[in-house]
Amino acid sequence: MIKKIFVLVCISSLIYLQSCKTNQVETIELNNWKFNLGDDMNWAQLGFDDSKWKEIKTNDYWENQGYVGYDGYAWYRIKFILPSALKNNAYYKDSIQFVLGKVDDTDEAFLNGKLIGQNGKTIKEDGSNAEKEWIGKNNTYNIDRRYVLKSDDSRLIWDKENILTVRANDHYLNGGMIGPKQFISMVDIKDYISFDIFGAGFSNPKINSLSKSITITNIHPSDELSGSLKIEIFKVETGEKNFEETKDVQLPSKGKAQVDFSFTADQTTWNNIKYIYTEKKSGKSFTLTQDVPYILTPKPGEEPKINGARVFGAHPGKELQYTIAATGIRPMTFEVSHLPKGLVLDTVIGQIKGKVADKGEYKVVLKAKNAKGLAERELKIIIGDKLALTPPMGWNSWNCWGLSVDDTKVKAAADQMKASGLADHGWTFINMDDGWEAPKRAKNGDMEANEKFPDMTKLSDYVHSKGLKLGIYSSPGPKTCGGYIGSYEHELQDAKTYVKWGVDYLKYDWCSYSDIAPKEIAQYYNVDWFAAKKNLGKSLSDFQKPYFVMRDALAKVDRDIIFSLCQYGWAYVWEWGGEADGNSWRTTGDIEDTWKSLSNIGFKQDICAPYAKPGNWNDPDMLIVGWVGWGPTLHTTRLTASEQYTHISLWAMLSAPLLLGCDLTRLDDFTLNLLTNDEVIDIDQDPLGKEALPAVKADGYQIWVKELEDGSKALGMFYLSDNVMTITVNFSEIKVDGTVKIRNVWRQKDLGSFANKFDAKVPSHGVVLVKITM
Ligand code: GAL
Repeated sequence: MIKKIFVLVCISSLIYLQSCKTNQVETIELNNWKFNLGDDMNWAQLGFDDSKWKEIKTNDYWENQGYVGYDGYAWYRIKFILPSALKNNAYYKDSIQFVLGKVDDTDEAFLNGKLIGQNGKTIKEDGSNAEKEWIGKNNTYNIDRRYVLKSDDSRLIWDKENILTVRANDHYLNGGMIGPKQFISMVDIKDYISFDIFGAGFSNPKINSLSKSITITNIHPSDELSGSLKIEIFKVETGEKNFEETKDVQLPSKGKAQVDFSFTADQTTWNNIKYIYTEKKSGKSFTLTQDVPYILTPKPGEEPKINGARVFGAHPGKELQYTIAATGIRPMTFEVSHLPKGLVLDTVIGQIKGKVADKGEYKVVLKAKNAKGLAERELKIIIGDKLALTPPMGWNSWNCWGLSVDDTKVKAAADQMKASGLADHGWTFINMDDGWEAPKRAKNGDMEANEKFPDMTKLSDYVHSKGLKLGIYSSPGPKTCGGYIGSYEHELQDAKTYVKWGVDYLKYDWCSYSDIAPKEIAQYYNVDWFAAKKNLGKSLSDFQKPYFVMRDALAKVDRDIIFSLCQYGWAYVWEWGGEADGNSWRTTGDIEDTWKSLSNIGFKQDICAPYAKPGNWNDPDMLIVGWVGWGPTLHTTRLTASEQYTHISLWAMLSAPLLLGCDLTRLDDFTLNLLTNDEVIDIDQDPLGKEALPAVKADGYQIWVKELEDGSKALGMFYLSDNVMTITVNFSEIKVDGTVKIRNVWRQKDLGSFANKFDAKVPSHGVVLVKITM
């Protein structure tokens, strides 16, 4: 049977470059695989009859497709014709690639019965570099399999049917081919040329007027490549083009070229830039698209408006600090009425401070006054057992500075948190991540900071003087993930040091605690905790122990310190993070600034959603907007504008801690606008503290609903695929009856009354976020 040969018609995508020449075979997509459990070398042969085999998706584990708990061998087979047109259409005709994506855990790939690859390594025609021991390797599950053969390799059968088989072996938890997709193509110009459109951001001399540079790289070892780059800017909804410019590009072998351009575009609507690179000798062209950052949030008015959390928790008898977040022109004065005994207001920075001895709920009225008027809002101060009654908001050094964080950078973040106006919307914490620790403890065992942080107490005073709060980082292990000293066997001593320094927040990261924990639990480190439901038995307590130890230490010290658990979501931490007094717990591994990472993490959070509540939040990791890079070199986020709107909207819907991971000294207009929409922030900070759940998870789009304290619902309509889609919400799907009022949250605009259903046009990877009032 002949499988489909796809003809690519100019598909452009942000991350994957696709060559695009109409009506010419350039890629063979491998879409309909057959599957069977077990192991038999005959299954590699073309003549084998697989008509009784099952179909399977090759972008998901077999566990998720009915083979729960299966470990061992299984085979995948696909037949396809290999047309010589593939070779003839290519500029470079010498090699062909079989791109299979990831295989969990290990694989051998055969073409027409002959071995071509093992765990990502191409096997020579004579098989001389093949390994016998290709299974049992744990660390091969994350390798992208790409096997490259010469075009005259005898294992290929040109213009006839071929059989490609993958002999997979899973020896631990999830298994199988997980893609994301499999295809065959010549190794051609598109594989030698790459575009960096993120190294430099957009510079905005003023809104609607932008400039940009991109870098193009040629990795061909000997050929100079030249061509032209056409830049087009057009309105996505209408297709109307409003800019076009073509530039010549010379690309020396193993070299680069930089292309600069300036343009104007209406930033209130969605515009795309299309980069079309045409290589001269081959005539081949590739297309790449990027959003022009579009602005949705209206600018705050001049009159005072109080923002931020409406409920605040502290322990009895411990120092509390709450700074009133308010927009409006300065000077502004603050007043608070009905303050409970023990609290005072710093009228300059608008900070409430002091200690309340007795447990209870205290309703105070916050007031902010400027030349344009007076704003009032109620704040509930709850003196009791819980901190972080709304998800913490602030900044953390890791996603921008990595281990290159220092005192100057932390102070600069605090300065900019105020100066940019972010603090006026509730952004409060200034958190140092890994990289502040001294190489040795003091003689008495006290933890000390390294030379990059000359005086922690002064730093904390500096941060506090701005009405902000300071966070720190450590590990329960002897070493942090960055190799610095951790808190192992010094937990209480470290907690006391944090109090001495005036620290308000501790991120506590597992890291080298693996060296301390019983070896048996290592078998659980690679589990996909969202997918598998394993009974951990007594190992559960091994995962909990270090966090319980620090919980007990923090309970003994005389300061409220937010406790943020970081152990990558292991052992269903969402089920017991609250018991560890975790104010938040990471539910996943580290996020990256890619759509893949963001969407993989964000849209899986429904598993842990039921466990979020005031004081205890699921943490899908820090934000990846603005200039990021894990230090010291930074780049602008690789997320499109729409993806960034999805990011902030989804994290708000998930009641996630909002910790900016970017360099605050380089906030551009777009990023600032993205982070200062009080109606979006209010969804995150809603006092009810319920996390959103998906009402619809359909092919290409999802609808998530979050119940809010005032009885209304926030609704996120997310489009996960390409172009623009009209998403329809049927009210029956979201348990809404009768006529409701709908407000567009990003644009802060009432859309009117609706009955039965609501439609919205949603851009690729974007969102329409609305509030529904019954
Ligand atoms: C990782 C953690 C990151 C960051 C880093 C520091 O384990 O997930 O968020 O804290 O360690 O070394």
